[in-house]
Amino acid sequence: MNPPLAPVRVALLGHGTVGGSLRRLLHEHRDHVRLATGRDVEICAVLVRDPERHRLEVGEALAPLVTESLDVVLESRPDVVCEAMGGLEPTRGHLLRVLGAGIPVVTANKQLVARHGTELFARAAEAGAQLRFEASVCGAVPIVRMLRESLAATRIERLLGILNGTTNYMLSKMEATGAAYDDALAEAQELGYAEPDPTEDVEGLDAAAKLAILAGIAFGTTVDIDNVRATGISGVRAADVAHAAELGYRIRLIGRAERLTAADDTTSVLLDVTPMLVPIAHPLATIVGATNAVLVDGDPFGRLVVQGAGAGGPETASALAGDLVSVMGSEPSFLTTDPHVATLPIAPADARRDRHFVRMQVVDQPGVLATVAGALAARDISIERVLQQRADDGHATLVLTTHPCTPGALSAALAGVASTDRSVLPMLELA
Ligand code: NAP
Ligand code: HSE
Repeated sequence: MNPPLAPVRVALLGHGTVGGSLRRLLHEHRDHVRLATGRDVEICAVLVRDPERHRLEVGEALAPLVTESLDVVLESRPDVVCEAMGGLEPTRGHLLRVLGAGIPVVTANKQLVARHGTELFARAAEAGAQLRFEASVCGAVPIVRMLRESLAATRIERLLGILNGTTNYMLSKMEATGAAYDDALAEAQELGYAEPDPTEDVEGLDAAAKLAILAGIAFGTTVDIDNVRATGISGVRAADVAHAAELGYRIRLIGRAERLTAADDTTSVLLDVTPMLVPIAHPLATIVGATNAVLVDGDPFGRLVVQGAGAGGPETASALAGDLVSVMGSEPSFLTTDPHVATLPIAPADARRDRHFVRMQVVDQPGVLATVAGALAARDISIERVLQQRADDGHATLVLTTHPCTPGALSAALAGVASTDRSVLPMLELA
């Protein structure tokens, strides 16, 4: 009989919501990991800002080493490093050193992968060390593996996703209970879904980083996160949620990446993150709470939809642990190579024509509706539906939906309309 394999030594960078959950998960599910890999996992070091605070942990032994020094972590001779500390610096510098030392890395850090993936992959390839990042996108949902491995021999045309748990939690809470925006955000923070700076969630930057990562793999291209047009949910009002429901829609923060092939056969990628009206029968309209979902269309598989917990410590830790198991089972691996082989141009916003929802307060007097219709007609924008609700103060709420038009034409048309409290949201098609 072969002697048992030595335990895999794992160092954790970060021991907060996700890192702390990973340590507990690897302890509680150690039998499953041994069954899957034939090896035990041993936490050899934990990097934090404030080691004193973490020595106070109760329960099973924390780790032999809790330190604020990466040198001390590297001296503990880890076989794999799991990064859940977040932020760009010093995390980037730490991971370049770890990969440079030939140590595989698994990370939950979407901003880092989206902004510095090229540099990190180059270092990983030089040193022959794996860099895995499943936990950086959609928490527990194995979407990175699906795109990078399961669908590797296919052509992906379009990817649509609910990529941020915090905002989906907030929008579904606002819709179901009429909760105010600030209360819904406070709850999402309390539940550990939000980023340390929740602006990243509510302004769409977290979803933009995830979309950049997914689009990069789906289309084999380098996507500069600054080229993802991101609009968050901070402008969405309870009135938008209510009127959308009246029309048979739900509002969701949607990330969209689409391959565009021009008449001369050149390809570009359309990318945006924006709150959209989603028809109630669409698979993405049914996604509630901190759940994430990704819909992928391509050839020859047709359509795939995956969904699951998109945020939260234990949920995200399960994705880190999955990557850890994959590293243990695949040395050497092609995952030291950068999946981004081309640089496809990003298409301008006006390359897309969507139907739009418009809600605005107008003065309730003769001719106002005609002015709005005239301004839209002047830009060749056709109205699909109109609802008007009178208020007692001499104003009216005007809600209309348009036939497909570019965002540029709509914004130019509305510039000439006198109104207040205006929301303009694109609408997702059912197909
Ligand atoms: P967190 O609770 O704030 O934990 C961060 C941990 O990293 C803490 O232990 C902190 O040390 C440590 N740390 C931060 N900066 C450090 C530095 N400069 N040097 C040493 N240690 C440092 O954050 P989190 O929610 O777990 O998120 C961590 C990462 O996971 C982020 O990249 C986030 O985007 C990603 N993520 C989070 C979720 C989620 O649902 N929370 C889901 C998916 C991905 P101290 O404890 O001493 O402060
Ligand atoms: N803050 C992120 C979210 C965590 O709400 O989706 C998961 O990446």
